[in-house]
Amino acid sequence: MYVLEFAGEDDPFSAAEARAAATDVEILAPGLGRAESVSPDRARGLAFTRRVSEAVGTSAGDPEAAASVLKSASISRSGSVAVRARDIRGTAGIDTQQAERRLGQVLVDRGFAVDLSNPDHTLVALFADDLAVLGWEVLTARRDYGRQPTDRPFFQPGSMDPRLARAVLNLAGVGPADRVLDPMCGTGGLLIEAGRLGGVPIGFDAQAKMVHGTRRNLQAALDGPFLVGRGDATALPLPDDSIDAVVFDAPYGRQSKIATHGLEQLVRGALTEARRVSSRAVVVADRAYDQLVREAGWTLRERHDRRVHRSLTRFVHVLEPR
Ligand SMILES: C[S@@+](CC[C@H](N)C(=O)[O-])C[C@H]1O[C@@H](n2cnc3c(N)ncnc32)[C@H](O)[C@@H]1O
Repeated sequence: MYVLEFAGEDDPFSAAEARAAATDVEILAPGLGRAESVSPDRARGLAFTRRVSEAVGTSAGDPEAAASVLKSASISRSGSVAVRARDIRGTAGIDTQQAERRLGQVLVDRGFAVDLSNPDHTLVALFADDLAVLGWEVLTARRDYGRQPTDRPFFQPGSMDPRLARAVLNLAGVGPADRVLDPMCGTGGLLIEAGRLGGVPIGFDAQAKMVHGTRRNLQAALDGPFLVGRGDATALPLPDDSIDAVVFDAPYGRQSKIATHGLEQLVRGALTEARRVSSRAVVVADRAYDQLVREAGWTLRERHDRRVHRSLTRFVHVLEPR
């Protein structure tokens, strides 16, 4: 079993994203998940999982209980060790330094040398609520998402936060060499993350200035190939089933310019086109589009409602074929 340390505050969202990289993901306690198996390459690209460890054991949420689990745990490692304890979101109310010393002592008693600056193995001790989970650190996430939208060559208000964009690509199951389409790419925020995950970004936008801007942003952010052109999301110049995953951030009623359609018609048309060219999609919007999703031939696998601020909630729809 593996233990996942989630980032952010929305554990169901983090767990859903982690399913791109791990099997049988479940929430264990606030900020903590478990998984049966993990794909390290995929897990390093997660936005809302910060670290993955191989579980050693669980106990009640106090250092003494964790120490007694560690005393009897089977350990097939050798070399130097360090212990890193966390009181996740302050839910356990323990002294993490004291926990590190106590658990370090157990490892010393078992014959390990402690090396805090460059250990061969790091034992993580995660305390959340009344649970403690011990594990050997396997990997930490790269956190290599693109620059903040305001720091890119081309910026427009309403651009998506790169971390959320990364999570959207992971929810869409994007991996290396996948053709990833954003049919209304705006400034290219989703396409940058698609490229960073090794996918091939393909973007369209109805406005010429967005097309030029996205090209500049992709050139600055990526080494690999991409394709961006002017086009209508409701009538794409692409063959059926030619795309591995579609992602888009629908215009918000009050902000973006809507080219030729009313908002509903635009989203309906874009969803229908997405289904024609692909069988995977994640759609972000400022409202729930459950019914339109169904009418366009998709099943809504899950929806995550993420509050951005008082007057904006982003609805993240994860779609699969009906
Ligand atoms: C909410 S923005 C996308 C924001 C983008 N995710 C970003 O981070 O910059 C929506 C985009 O849809 C484009 N758009 C509107 N109607 C369209 C259509 N029919 N076909 C293609 N693009 C369209 C707009 O020009 C706008 O750039």
